[in-house]
Amino acid sequence: MALLDNLTWRYATKKYDSTKVVSEENIDKIVEATRLTPTSSGLQQFRVLVIKNKELQNQIVPISYDQQIVADCSHLLVFVAWDSYTEKRIDDIYDFTTDERELPRGRFTSYTDRLKQMFFAQTEEEHFVHTSKQAYIGLGLAIAQAAELNIDSTPMEGFENDKLDELLNLKEQGLRSVLMLPLGYRDTEGDWLSSMKKVRISTEDFVTKIYE
Ligand SMILES: Cc1cc2nc3c(=O)[nH]c(=O)nc-3n(C[C@H](O)[C@H](O)[C@H](O)COP(=O)(O)O)c2cc1C
Repeated sequence: MALLDNLTWRYATKKYDSTKVVSEENIDKIVEATRLTPTSSGLQQFRVLVIKNKELQNQIVPISYDQQIVADCSHLLVFVAWDSYTEKRIDDIYDFTTDERELPRGRFTSYTDRLKQMFFAQTEEEHFVHTSKQAYIGLGLAIAQAAELNIDSTPMEGFENDKLDELLNLKEQGLRSVLMLPLGYRDTEGDWLSSMKKVRISTEDFVTKIYE
């Protein structure tokens, strides 16, 4: 039940206690849970930046619609994803996978050929829609791992992606920002949301079981 209890405990924290710092050991656990994210075709299309730099965090506040949480949190995760699929990106990860498994390179060529055929019929914008979806899966796991460690977090789409990409020089690396996740410890007194009920639609409305 621990995971369910912790998912009930967590909420999208609106105010952090800026004096409290998450240990590096716990940050590493959250990153590790995120690295273990399953991704479409195992391509690992996204990466995570971990920012603990008040000057940079303060620069991110105005491009995050003045959400002060990006500066007051202990660490700020930025989820970034490939801006497009390329032959090299697909081949590199498959070569890495076959090498790790001590299989001959090219073992999955018929599969990767099909992938390339499918992706190269699409626009780069369509590629990014697909690569960024993988980052959302990682976001979920990062939030869950943080909750397991009783660390607060706030999933964030509310920022100007292009400006963040520029600030972090992501374009040059063939990457684009997708999401941010401030991590830290809630300021219970100062956070208007901390004592509010968690609201979800009922299980009955949420799930449809189709058996037999
Ligand atoms: C993808 C995504 C983007 C979000 N963006 C923001 C954001 O920019 N700022 C914010 O304060 N909350 C943001 N939220 C938090 C949601 O509003 C919150 O998760 C939702 O209302 C459910 O509440 P709970 O997380 O407290 O249970 C975001 C959540 C998700 C999943």
